[in-house]
Amino acid sequence: MGTPLPGRRRVLIAGLATLGTAASSLLSSRGRAAETIALRQLAADKGLVYGTTISAAQITGDRPFIDLVLREAGVVVAENEMKWQVMNRGEPGDDDYGPADTVASFALENDIALRGHNLLWYYRTPDWFFDLSSRNEQERAVIERINKLSGRYRGMVHSWDVVNEPIEPKDGRQDGLRTAVFLEALGLEYLDLAYRVAREADPAARLVVNEYDVELDAPEHEARRTALLGLLQRMRRSGTPVDAVGIQAHLRATGGPPLSPEVLRRFLGEIAGLGLTIQITELDVTDETAPADNTARDGLVADAYRRFLDAALDEPAVKMVVTWGLSDRHSWIVRRETHESKWRSDDLPSRPLPFDADLQPKSACEAIAHAFSHAPVRAGG
Ligand code: XIL
Repeated sequence: MGTPLPGRRRVLIAGLATLGTAASSLLSSRGRAAETIALRQLAADKGLVYGTTISAAQITGDRPFIDLVLREAGVVVAENEMKWQVMNRGEPGDDDYGPADTVASFALENDIALRGHNLLWYYRTPDWFFDLSSRNEQERAVIERINKLSGRYRGMVHSWDVVNEPIEPKDGRQDGLRTAVFLEALGLEYLDLAYRVAREADPAARLVVNEYDVELDAPEHEARRTALLGLLQRMRRSGTPVDAVGIQAHLRATGGPPLSPEVLRRFLGEIAGLGLTIQITELDVTDETAPADNTARDGLVADAYRRFLDAALDEPAVKMVVTWGLSDRHSWIVRRETHESKWRSDDLPSRPLPFDADLQPKSACEAIAHAFSHAPVRAGG
């Protein structure tokens, strides 16, 4: 493992043409003219990278789904396998890299870019971290976590979500930062520390701040945008190595705050103005309260994708779009056992992603394809 990125990227670009053709014949044989070209190809034509989450279990157990990923995705991200609490076996330093390696090797072997998700997330921190008795021990654990994981995949990762979800204005701090575990343990310096250690562990990886609920026209989203921009400004001023912002974009087909293209564009423009690139990192559309009828529901889901992407892709600093899954067959919105997902009260399976559970393209796929096809060309990054 460890082919340097530039070489990988050249191979990746060369591979795109062939994969695009394969997707073309497959999808057109279904008579769906709108999806004759794979999403990764439509994106690549505009200097964008499109991709999806994936899991080790899917790689070993769902070949048809993986074939779809190979056709459609130019980047993959492990849905859970690289999260600290998920990898950790219960003791400090005792992490299972097996499933994470499965995802990383899949990306490398297939010349697909790899996003790293994530190095630190308050919500998926092992229990023992909270019991460490000194600041020194906690600092050492954070440094070791970043060095070991990022160091293991050095040269293979396109971008790392170094700190996931650092913002929470509801916590009441003036700066809008989340007062969760790392800030409590290490103070504000944890952010600078995490990004510096990550830069050293893998200098080629773009370092990302990943955040949710910053997309829409609502006071809570506005407060989160203000806090995020404040954080990014401070990081830039103090020389903290940060390259990009991840906008999660978990959207709703119905029932949520509205999307204002002006508000979204202004926000993305402000991020770009700080010299940072932007990635849409977890795009999906919950159809929890949308009508039962599939066609009506799919139309509303597609509209949400279209409205969001049409506005977001106007900003040339947006270089990557990742959907949080590719097929309704594998989505955190559909899986009941996660307890934290939103599912429908009528018990119908949710349809939040571009392809349905039978791996057939839906209106959402057409909406994404349309948005990519009409996006301005941008420089890669
Ligand atoms: C989710 C996964 O999709 C679920 O399988 C898991 O149970 C919980 O985490 N924001 C993030 C992602 O940054 O890591 C989350 O992924 C979704 C919300």
